[in-house]
Amino acid sequence: MLSEKSRPVVEATIGIIGERIPNITPVFYKSMFEARPDLLDGMFSRANQKNGTQPQALAGSIAMFASHLLNHPDSYPDEVLSRVAHKHASLGLLPEEYPTVHEHLFGAIAADLGDAATPEVVAAWDEVYWLMADALIKIEKGLYSQQANDVMFAPFRLISKEPVAEGVVAFEFEPADDTPMTPSVAGQYISIQVVVMDGLRQPRQFTLVPSDPGHRRIVVREDPEGEVSPILHEDIAVGDVLEISNPYGDVTLDPDFHGPLVLVSAGIGITPVVAFLDQLAREDPEREVLVLHADRSEAAWPGRELVRDYVSRMPNAKLVSWLAAPGEGDFAGHMDVSQAEIPEGAEVFMCGPLAFMQSVRSQLVSGGVPGRSIHYEIFGPDLWMLHDEARTA
Ligand code: HEM
Repeated sequence: MLSEKSRPVVEATIGIIGERIPNITPVFYKSMFEARPDLLDGMFSRANQKNGTQPQALAGSIAMFASHLLNHPDSYPDEVLSRVAHKHASLGLLPEEYPTVHEHLFGAIAADLGDAATPEVVAAWDEVYWLMADALIKIEKGLYSQQANDVMFAPFRLISKEPVAEGVVAFEFEPADDTPMTPSVAGQYISIQVVVMDGLRQPRQFTLVPSDPGHRRIVVREDPEGEVSPILHEDIAVGDVLEISNPYGDVTLDPDFHGPLVLVSAGIGITPVVAFLDQLAREDPEREVLVLHADRSEAAWPGRELVRDYVSRMPNAKLVSWLAAPGEGDFAGHMDVSQAEIPEGAEVFMCGPLAFMQSVRSQLVSGGVPGRSIHYEIFGPDLWMLHDEARTA
């Protein structure tokens, strides 16, 4: 809980801090990576620095946390903290790194605010930072303690690589040493480190899809502009060994909820849907499930046969598709959920590009689905969470 001393100071300055974040974050990141270039080797994604999403997500989440403390003094924004902690844990982040971010972030805040960064203002925001850092550290410690091993990354050998749709390849890995494997839960992801052109290790997260027992399987769409996916697609060969983290991620099915499910995806966002369907087909085949998918065409749609196969084996499951290619899919053009019948009392899981999910979410909310029943997974830093309504409405 924020102290009585800091509360009015945070209240008075949250507007200006929020406004200045776009100016503060580039300075913060520049100074941090100058002092600690090693953080770009295996920890931070350079691509997310370049496009600015990660710095914004990090600094923005602190402002969002502060605003939560002001509006709900007795609670924390658990969902946001959990998402961030899972992402951190997948990268092997340790508590001793928190002072590094603190030092450079607060250096940048002080430089930007100038005289307005009085000792009171700095002390109040310091308190916010450490409340958030301590909450994250605690969750991260809990996540690490649930693993079957005490390493952050273990070596895995690529045993198969097969195209599954236009520009999309499935990779299956087996352990390359005797590190015990933590079992994954449907919807979770792993971080994989790939050595890029200049020798740095770059981590990326990929959702796990069903695999043979004791293996890890991912499905990757090539982004020709990307730094990592072209290497996976073109350079990594069967027999190569890569470093892979334990499974993390909290967008998973609630074992205590037995009502209807709506699984919504676009493009490569199908991967968590495949993982959920696999779990449901094995454990709860009678479940009422509505699968909604949007894609460019049949050929571009990864896992289409798999999805159809799961749905055909589940008597109460139904698939509806929107494909841009003329004459393909149940409907043409963009997903319009009013063309499908959303079951009463359903929990919804979405994965796909942000604009797609924002559109589907507003359609669902207008159609009467409560915001709290709509869950989503974003590939990449989640800027949506900074706008409270996506999480709490
Ligand atoms: C990701 C917040 C400390 C490294 C993130 C994200 C947020 C965040 C909001 C984006 C999560 C997502 O949606 O994917 C914070 C806050 C911190 C903190 C509030 C302190 C209170 C740290 C520290 C490090 C770190 C100390 C390491 C020195 C990372 C990395 C990512 C990340 C590597 C992954 C995203 C990427 O590379 O693009 N953090 N973080 N964070 N954070 Fe933190």
